[in-house]
Amino acid sequence: MKDKVTVTTIRKMKSEGDKITALALYDHAFAALADQAGVDIALVGDSLGMTFQGEENTLKVTMDHMAYHTRAVGKGLQRALLVADMPFMSFRLGIERTLENAGRLVAEGAEAVKLEGVESIIGSIRELVAAGIPVMGHLGLTPQSVHALGGFKVQGKEPDAAKRLVEDACRLQDAGVFSLVLECVPMEVGAKVTSQVQIPVIGIGAGPYCDGQVLVANDMLGLSPTRKPKFVKEYTDLAAVAQAAFGEFAREVRSGAFPDQEHSYTTPMRRLKAL
Ligand code: KIV
Repeated sequence: MKDKVTVTTIRKMKSEGDKITALALYDHAFAALADQAGVDIALVGDSLGMTFQGEENTLKVTMDHMAYHTRAVGKGLQRALLVADMPFMSFRLGIERTLENAGRLVAEGAEAVKLEGVESIIGSIRELVAAGIPVMGHLGLTPQSVHALGGFKVQGKEPDAAKRLVEDACRLQDAGVFSLVLECVPMEVGAKVTSQVQIPVIGIGAGPYCDGQVLVANDMLGLSPTRKPKFVKEYTDLAAVAQAAFGEFAREVRSGAFPDQEHSYTTPMRRLKAL
């Protein structure tokens, strides 16, 4: 196993020009596979509301959900840094509740938390960092603001909006975040933000010039049949593989081909005589 990834590793990767790899995932099995494959960051994203729970957006995800999945993912990791999303409103109801919620995720295994946005949360970010909880920022398309943004749309297309993104990234950096997710912006804007801050910028739909890339594991495995943003590259079609296996199982059960001897237990018949 290569060395354990920490927030220090992630910071250093930018200065050394090493690309950072991250995947959003929600369970022990995928976490272990990503870890063994050498992915640097396992992000327990609140995208689980959509990919795992089948909701239209991430707004119904609760602290209980995040705590449950953070624990499960943590059990699968040996090397990757575990970052957990703070769900909708969990960091906007006062500093005390923010600290309590972040502390709960850390107790479940998170090594850092991710917060969306910048307005009105700078104070909370400073408090979290002061409490020893590393914070990852999230700018651009921030799904928890889907209603305010008018849908899942590319952000920062106009010069004013792009300038604001650069300013917001600098504000987050000043508040102490150790890195930043930048979602769904033109690649020129991704490049600009990345070059204007010292912290690593991890893009998702933000072009190739970011310091690293994150994708949702379900999306890149071909397991998200409904909404497929342009930035998703499907590296395989796991849905087809799973569907074929499920179909074969159903056919074999109906025909009697499964279970066969190989998949059954045996005991000497004489032991059953007394029954
Ligand atoms: O919730 C999530 O999975 C995320 C990633 C898309 C970055 O925030």
